[in-house]
Amino acid sequence: MKKIKIGFVGAGWMGSVQLKRLTERDDIEINALFEKNTERGKEVLRNLGLSENLLVSDYNDIIKNKDIDAVWLVSPNSFHGPQSIAAMQAGKHVFCEKPCATKFSDFCKQIEIEKSNPNLKTYVDYILYFDSLEERLRKMFADGAFGKITQIQVNYRHPVNIAGDKVWKLSKETMGDAIGMGINHAISVMIYAMQSQAKPVAVYATKLKSQVRDFEAEPIYNIMIKFDNGATGFCFGNIDSGNGYDAYHNLYGTDGGFIFESQIDRPYKVRYWSNKTTAGKWIRPLDKQNAGDLAWPDDTTTPDSGNVVEHQTGSCVNHFIDCIKHDTKSPLSFVNSQTIAEIGWAAQMSAELNEEIALPLNWDEAKKFFND
Ligand SMILES: NC(=O)c1ccc[n+]([C@@H]2O[C@H](COP(=O)([O-])OP(=O)(O)OC[C@H]3O[C@@H](n4cnc5c(N)ncnc54)[C@H](O)[C@@H]3O)[C@@H](O)[C@H]2O)c1
Repeated sequence: MKKIKIGFVGAGWMGSVQLKRLTERDDIEINALFEKNTERGKEVLRNLGLSENLLVSDYNDIIKNKDIDAVWLVSPNSFHGPQSIAAMQAGKHVFCEKPCATKFSDFCKQIEIEKSNPNLKTYVDYILYFDSLEERLRKMFADGAFGKITQIQVNYRHPVNIAGDKVWKLSKETMGDAIGMGINHAISVMIYAMQSQAKPVAVYATKLKSQVRDFEAEPIYNIMIKFDNGATGFCFGNIDSGNGYDAYHNLYGTDGGFIFESQIDRPYKVRYWSNKTTAGKWIRPLDKQNAGDLAWPDDTTTPDSGNVVEHQTGSCVNHFIDCIKHDTKSPLSFVNSQTIAEIGWAAQMSAELNEEIALPLNWDEAKKFFND
């Protein structure tokens, strides 16, 4: 069996967890690590039983290395665009942490390069896709459990980690916008759930400057999304402050409703009703006594922590390796997740211009707006 050779980039908080997940597989080989903080890079390699010699001092050593099949980008946000473009231009598959880019021009290039190189596998880490609650929700949407959705709210309120060397997240130049710093997780949940019945057609957003911490970019966004079936989506996003992790979901359809509250204890955090499956009664699927045959398994995961160690890193790593091995495109590739990124760009435009922005995004207008 030929092993997939990986050039890994950025072994920080999230990177070290993903690197660990990769090393747990026997069909991959870590070929090189590019980590700006060499002491940290060596320590992470040592802890995983890998050779310190894997550390390279120049990103080009990864790009020019003909042996490397895929580049794994977990560097700070502003490097995702340039590093992924260079990797794709060198013919390498790309796993990219979110956001895909902090410059609109880089995002456009990612889409263009992927479209003209159909063999390249790419992936943007909208990791909530792999949470089992979100998987169930997508299936319930597709099965029509809630009928036609008319209103859907998904929040992302979480004071992102800026401790120690993660202080780069306060800089607009390095972090980009707050949507890319996690609010896009909520957008991704909403869009992938709605995918079986509607497409987003417009965005209206407002934003607020930092109230608590020293973010240069506005860390508070309120994003309203119109869908082509008449439904409205809403996201309260706030990375500035918080009282726990809030990925609250509340959706309403013609035949049912669903509520998820991150901060309420099991078995009460999820409840739903459906004319099709619960005879119109609210049930708590994480509560066996309440839900009976409709109870969800004990190992059902729910998005209620900002700690990456508790995220579905194993699933996302396995998914992307499988895409490479089986020559399949990820639903989260740059192109397949284009709408989620476009909602982020459109929300920034809308909040600045105080007007609704139509989707799909008019790239010419967006290029003029961002001028980057
Ligand atoms: N999908 C998720 O749920 C999730 C969760 C956490 C973080 N992230 C993303 O992961 C990325 C890293 O975040 P983090 O919290 O681990 O930050 P971090 O600061 O802990 O890690 C970043 C690492 O990159 C290194 N680095 C700096 N500049 C670099 C460069 N030019 N090239 C390569 N490496 C460089 C730093 O030394 C550091 O070790 C961010 O883009 C963040 O958005 C995603």
